[in-house]
Amino acid sequence: MGSEVMARAAAATTAHADSAASVSATPTLAELLAQLDELVGLKDVKSQVHRQTALLRMSGLRAQKGLKVPTVSRHLVFVGNPGTGKTTVARLVAGLYRALGLLTKGQLIETDRSGLVAGYVGQTAIKTSAIIESALGSVLFIDEAYSLAEDDFGEEAVSTLVKAMEDHRDELVVIVAGYPDEMKKFIESNPGLESRFGTTILFPDYSEDELVAIFRKLAAASDFEPTSGCIEKLRELVRAEPRDAGFGNGRFARNLFESAVGHHAWRLREKTEPSLAELRRLHADDLPER
Ligand SMILES: Nc1ncnc2c1ncn2[C@@H]1O[C@H](COP(=O)(O)OP(=O)(O)O)[C@@H](O)[C@H]1O
Ligand SMILES: [Mg+2]
Repeated sequence: MGSEVMARAAAATTAHADSAASVSATPTLAELLAQLDELVGLKDVKSQVHRQTALLRMSGLRAQKGLKVPTVSRHLVFVGNPGTGKTTVARLVAGLYRALGLLTKGQLIETDRSGLVAGYVGQTAIKTSAIIESALGSVLFIDEAYSLAEDDFGEEAVSTLVKAMEDHRDELVVIVAGYPDEMKKFIESNPGLESRFGTTILFPDYSEDELVAIFRKLAAASDFEPTSGCIEKLRELVRAEPRDAGFGNGRFARNLFESAVGHHAWRLREKTEPSLAELRRLHADDLPER
């Protein structure tokens, strides 16, 4: 990234800090980092995002003082199984980059192969360019990006992407996500990708305790209170769930929570005036049987 851009970035950061107390509803750097830290587990993911943030912020401050700025790649590879928090963290990264002044919008534009590839030769470049256009100033998040390495259509999407990352180097940030092995092959399949995606962040599967903690967080965030019996049964369900390719990680915890909320409503359906405690409490019965 040019040092002129980094200087602008730093100026934007300062301006943002000055006006933080005013109307802006945009979260600050500190707020976004706090949201990151509040996520369950993901210790190494958090420290890598903190480091990346510090590096980009310092580059901006150095550029502002006319110092040389080493090229810091802003693009990231997120590897991990489904439900391990990749989309959640990508959304925070988009906000962080905006708070750093590196992106003007800081939205997360999510897509995958079907959003980029068209069925006719020549059409894919047009479709991919349109998505890229909509993602300028934001983060373009490409899920299961390795599926682009499968055929010529995917290749057309990749070459369009690589060119856009060069042409719009100051306005476009790309995060590609997918299973670890497939993503490694994908990145290595194209020198343009290899040179642009320098940083890979690994999202591990969640432990039993972490899945219970995610369930608890989802419940607390919606004013529900699982009883100790509910948590005990949750643990059994988590233990019994096969950790195969279909394992949902965070999504498994979320699905259990959503089904418990449905069951809770059904259980209390005949109470005209449930008490506050009844309205809040999730019982073991609210969870599905194994
Ligand atoms: N570390 C975490 N802390 C709290 N909730 C999480 C965490 N990781 C995942 N979740 C929950 O699990 C769901 C799936 O996460 P997501 O970010 O979509 O995973 P991925 O993109 O890797 O498939 C989300 O709805 C989120 O609520
Ligand atoms: Mg996702």
